[in-house]
Amino acid sequence: MRIDVLTLFPEMLEPFCSASIVGRARKAGIVEIVCTQLRDFATDKHKSVDDKPFGGGPGMVLMCGPVFDAVEHVESLDPRPATRIVLTPQGETLTQRTVESLAKKPRLLIVCGHYEGFDQRILDGLRPMEISIGDYVLSGGEPAAAVLIDAVVRLLPGALGDRTSADSESFAGNLLEYPQYTRPREFRGMCVPDVLLSGDHGRIAGWRREQAELRTKARRPDLLEK
Ligand code: ADE
Repeated sequence: MRIDVLTLFPEMLEPFCSASIVGRARKAGIVEIVCTQLRDFATDKHKSVDDKPFGGGPGMVLMCGPVFDAVEHVESLDPRPATRIVLTPQGETLTQRTVESLAKKPRLLIVCGHYEGFDQRILDGLRPMEISIGDYVLSGGEPAAAVLIDAVVRLLPGALGDRTSADSESFAGNLLEYPQYTRPREFRGMCVPDVLLSGDHGRIAGWRREQAELRTKARRPDLLEK
């Protein structure tokens, strides 16, 4: 997979994309991630990418010209068709289901906004998916891009050493994850449940399933209704 990110702050994303699972997947050639500076596509001598909103109001709006030019340039660098994504609090809330469908695409092109938002013609003309990572407002799309990239890359074949660990985790089956324990067996008077030490794999699987259901019922009953 190739992931392009158009951003005014590539220096926020580069270290993120070079560490941990994403960094390893990149090194292993499982994903290619290319961050492109949107300001390089400004056309005036001040390198402007934003301007005051028509009709007045606070803040600045990301201009069409640099975004269209950057998208078209970056898309021309690789023949695979790109799924265009704009990160915005106005978008559809990201779910594991969306992440799974994005992980099957050959190429993603993520545009990070800043300022008060995008000129509406960017959305109308480029027809991207509009994605929000939750009902709160970030000062820019870069942290959201990091979230999206992480969630997608870990699903790519080979990105996690052990494939089953992606499948059994929270949300894969609309259930939260069961409680996990490791050594020591007792810590400050708190003991690991006996069943996990029993060696009985059938009982352990049953207990985990039950715990996952109890947790989901208590914390996220909305997931069980899905
Ligand atoms: N940009 C600003 N806030 C955002 C959010 N919640 N999700 C995605 N992009 C954003």
